[in-house]
Amino acid sequence: MPILRPLTGPSGKGNPPARKARYMTTLHRSIETRLKIVNVVFFSFILALVTAYSLQVFSFEKKIETMGHLEKFLQDILELRRYENNMMLNSGADDQDNIVIYVKRIKGDLKLLQHKIRAIAGDREFDQFRKNFDTYIASLPADNHGLKNSGQILRPYGKKMADFATHLLEKERKLIRLHARIFLYTFTILPGIAVLLVMLTIFRLTRSVVDRLSFLRQAVRDIRKGGKFTPIRDDPRINDEISDLARSFNKIAAELDSKTDELIQSKKLADIGTFSSGIAHELNNPLNNISLSADMLLEEYDDIPKDEAREILRDILAQTDRAGNIVRDLLDFTRDKKPTIRKLRICDVIAGAKKLIENELRLKAVHLETWKQPDLPYILGDEQKLQQVFLNLFVNAIHAMPDGGLIHVDTHAGPEGFIRVDVSDTGAGIPQEKISNIFDPFFTTRRGGTGTGLGLSIVYEIVKKHGGYIEVESQVQAGTTFSIFLPVATEAKDENGKQV
Ligand SMILES: Nc1ncnc2c1ncn2[C@@H]1O[C@H](COP(=O)(O)OP(=O)(O)OP(=O)(O)O)[C@@H](O)[C@H]1O
Ligand SMILES: [Mg+2]
Repeated sequence: MPILRPLTGPSGKGNPPARKARYMTTLHRSIETRLKIVNVVFFSFILALVTAYSLQVFSFEKKIETMGHLEKFLQDILELRRYENNMMLNSGADDQDNIVIYVKRIKGDLKLLQHKIRAIAGDREFDQFRKNFDTYIASLPADNHGLKNSGQILRPYGKKMADFATHLLEKERKLIRLHARIFLYTFTILPGIAVLLVMLTIFRLTRSVVDRLSFLRQAVRDIRKGGKFTPIRDDPRINDEISDLARSFNKIAAELDSKTDELIQSKKLADIGTFSSGIAHELNNPLNNISLSADMLLEEYDDIPKDEAREILRDILAQTDRAGNIVRDLLDFTRDKKPTIRKLRICDVIAGAKKLIENELRLKAVHLETWKQPDLPYILGDEQKLQQVFLNLFVNAIHAMPDGGLIHVDTHAGPEGFIRVDVSDTGAGIPQEKISNIFDPFFTTRRGGTGTGLGLSIVYEIVKKHGGYIEVESQVQAGTTFSIFLPVATEAKDENGKQV
């Protein structure tokens, strides 16, 4: 389950080194840096937008001002034409004076707007206008005579000038309308795109963080459920906060895993201590027998018949074997072996645990009887760890029956896919209010430091790791039953996926 980006992709083979380097630096950026970059880009964009907006508003003001001047220019030409008309109709000297006034005004307008007009209409049009205007001026009568005729001459040039100014104004109006439209679209669409891009970037960033955090959450849940810890896969090129968290998590979980194993191992050794008197007794018996037989053989060496001597020696060998077996079983149980998952018969596991504790049972006057349903399916598990489960339950039961009693182990099919083992005793029982605490680490009712309170928490841990669960029923002064449910072996594969 890759929590981080796969190792293939843009930095793969065939990419130019520069692109690859850029990609690598992007991956190396922390989330904080990436957010900073998004912020900087976004605010730079907003700043650029505000600047462009201000410049546009300023340029609009200028355009509107120019429009005003152009309108005045047209107005002056139209006034000029009105007096030109009047002059033609009335032949009045006043009209001629007014024409001169407006010619001056138009000259002033041209001086002011020359560059603008050239820009709007083009040089050729402007020069043509100038020519017409100059001809118009040249055609003005020098005195009051022949005003009517002059009017006739002026008329076509006046019209051309008025058409030019009208056309100019219309062109400028169109230009302003176009600019206004571009302005409107740009400043409504661009901020929208920017907000969308930022939202998209933040969404992608958040999704990548949330996706990877959900892998972490799942890993934490797996550990809480007691499942085997599988390290979260990590892309070594990514170096952000989540990757740091994943790496630290992997480290802590691995340490926790090994610490749990160490704890189980040390508890196992401590358990041996608790029934060491039984073990000593168990070893003492064959050693005594060996010593007695050897003594007898030594004393009666010359008189004893050969057959009898051979029988004594056989007995010595059998007793040596018995002692050897006890030591071997004990070593087998205490040795810190790598967990080996294999197909097991649950009754063999129970028998192994019983064997380890046999003398303790005898010493404490506790009888352990077992019953099993025939033809039970196999289970998959670690024999040593499962032995530890039953050993802890047996030891607890012995402690609950200081004056002796009965442990009954009943093995049968459980709910679908499970084998059920009930370990019942006739001991002191557990008060109802304490039942919810017994699986807590360090919960013990045994006084004087005789109990560490780890036995049942380790039982719980081991059973959970085997995919099983535990139930407990107890009645004070009547006894307790621990029911262990273990899944039957469906696919015979170990934790590395190998056939077992
Ligand atoms: N069969 C039982 N009958 C009565 N009480 C029990 C039984 N099994 C467990 N308990 C109670 O549960 C407590 C916790 O058991 P657990 O095995 O975890 O710790 P412990 O036996 O006290 O110490 P140790 O770490 O040596 O096993 C016991 O102290 C005891 O009070
Ligand atoms: Mg215990």
